[in-house]
Amino acid sequence: MPPQRALERDRPLRLGVMASGEGSNFEALVMACRAGQLPAEVTMLVVNREHCGALARAERLGIPAELIDHRSQPSREALDREIVARFRSASVDLVVMAGWMRIVTEVLLEAYPDRLINIHPSLLPSFRGAKAIEQALEAGVRISGCSAHLVALEVDSGPILVQAAVPVLENDSAQTLAERIHEQEHRILPLAVQLAAQRLGLLPGAAS
Ligand code: GRF
Repeated sequence: MPPQRALERDRPLRLGVMASGEGSNFEALVMACRAGQLPAEVTMLVVNREHCGALARAERLGIPAELIDHRSQPSREALDREIVARFRSASVDLVVMAGWMRIVTEVLLEAYPDRLINIHPSLLPSFRGAKAIEQALEAGVRISGCSAHLVALEVDSGPILVQAAVPVLENDSAQTLAERIHEQEHRILPLAVQLAAQRLGLLPGAAS
């Protein structure tokens, strides 16, 4: 059943977040909600690795978290079915992949059509995949950045919601460039969630 529209809902927009790593984007979303910058709440975190920073952050922030180890699942589809089941049980309206390092399937896309957002550390469509920052350095680009986009089946593709550019400096390492990009990711991800929700009529405001 599709999520109710904003004016019919008597509760805030509920976000589910998927993370595999540090979880700094997850925390940025939680803080944007708590600061009132994003009229939503992060209802549940799903992680696929027990020892990831995101899980520790969830504990510190008091956000319910579920561990679904991908190695315990027979297929990508089975993993996605588990994720959908957890998010459905938490009445999640919109899902954010914030450093989710697994390839998703139709199972997730069909459960959350136009409601699945990814954050990626490059100016898409350049430098798709898991080594985007290293690829940008190797290519010698002078400007890189990050993209928040709706998820499509092909990895790191789908309609772009918000992008931010950052300069690549002469002596940048993957780490220093990543830090500069992360700052912008934390800024644009809440904006992208708001925009996607407005387009769906899940939040009031200008939809385009
Ligand atoms: C971010 O750079 C994001 O673009 C990419 O994975 C990284 C996750 O960082 N998909 P964090 O776990 O949110 O700190």
